[in-house]
Amino acid sequence: MSKSGKLSKAAGFATRAIHQGHRAADHHGALNPPVYMSSTFAFETAEDGGDIFAGEKEGYFYSRISNPTLALLETRLADLEGSEAAVSASSGMGAICSTIWTLVAPGDEIITDGTLYGCTFSFFRESLRKFGITITHVDLTEPSNLVAAISDKTKVVYFETPANPNMRIVDIEEISKIAHTVDATVVVDNTYSTPYLQQPLSLGADLVVHSATKYLGGHGDLVAGAVVGSADMIEQIRLVGLKDMTGAVLSAQDANLILRGIKTLELRMERHCDSAEKVAAYLVNHPRVTKVYYPGLESFPQHAVAKKQMTRFGGMVPFEIEGGILAAKKLLNALDLITIAVSLGDAETLIQHPASMTHSTYSPEELAKYHISEGLVRLSVGLEQADDILADLDHAFEAAYGTHARNVAAE
Ligand SMILES: Cc1ncc(COP(=O)(O)O)c(C=O)c1O
Repeated sequence: MSKSGKLSKAAGFATRAIHQGHRAADHHGALNPPVYMSSTFAFETAEDGGDIFAGEKEGYFYSRISNPTLALLETRLADLEGSEAAVSASSGMGAICSTIWTLVAPGDEIITDGTLYGCTFSFFRESLRKFGITITHVDLTEPSNLVAAISDKTKVVYFETPANPNMRIVDIEEISKIAHTVDATVVVDNTYSTPYLQQPLSLGADLVVHSATKYLGGHGDLVAGAVVGSADMIEQIRLVGLKDMTGAVLSAQDANLILRGIKTLELRMERHCDSAEKVAAYLVNHPRVTKVYYPGLESFPQHAVAKKQMTRFGGMVPFEIEGGILAAKKLLNALDLITIAVSLGDAETLIQHPASMTHSTYSPEELAKYHISEGLVRLSVGLEQADDILADLDHAFEAAYGTHARNVAAE
């Protein structure tokens, strides 16, 4: 909380995540910010109502536009991403759609990498194309590809880094420089990293989008999203994309849960990273594992770029095993502690098969073209004891391949 509710940038990440923006004295001394469960706000007079609507007087009027609980969450997220403003949304897709609908018009082009969360991919391929927006998929892991593809038609350059599900890393600084030569807006999905591990706006990006369903919430009990950027851009997204075009407004209850979640974001991310490193080391040494996609591994092709822009490498460890998809399904079914489920960033370790689940929006040809292998499984390393996660994997490998599948290197 802090007496003033206003901490400078000199305060640490966790300190700001816990205190920024809340002044207890304004709320009868409440340590935890009250939750404003109100769709509308009463005006003292008719004149006041008109002035607040016109933006001539400060105040709330309707929770689709703003609400004090959402405003606190937005203040905190903006601060943690090192930016001026943020707007929350009722899902990550709500945040992405509100952003894109605000930025583009028929005839415009969006350049994006081929690897995207499955619903973002289908939003681009189907929904946006229907409205006369051109989507060009470019391999953004090589910045020179963007130089070749970009033109005055390009209004948005959009990517995830690390990307869901194969952890491709895009150089935020290089791509932003190139995009800005034609004044395109750079939008980075920072869901996998969170502002604790990576701050795209400080590297030149214009907007950050989040699925707050994941690490920000952190407990698998809500669906939410957010957009972070300059005050001007966020105001446009709030008043056009969110208020009018999607109406994808977050509830105050869920905003409160995210505020609680981000109080422990630093602690949780450190634990996710510690355990993911152990799991990646285990898998890399496993005789039945053919490929591990973890940017923290020196053998990961884009390790150097990841190291340049991330402080650590996150909790996601996708991998492929001998025997392809059939063996992978056997492995998943043999797990006990690790839960077969989509989503990520929760306390529980989750595993899923992108080709048939989160990325089933891709055709088989698109999966192959954009490097999402049929045999890939995506592990979201949770907050349990790392040894218990490893033991569950070990036991499942044995069940899938017989006792000769033991990971001797890890013993
Ligand atoms: C990287 C990424 N971005 C966006 C989304 C969409 O978020 P939501 O499910 O909160 O709408 C997801 C969901 O899995 C995701 O993984």
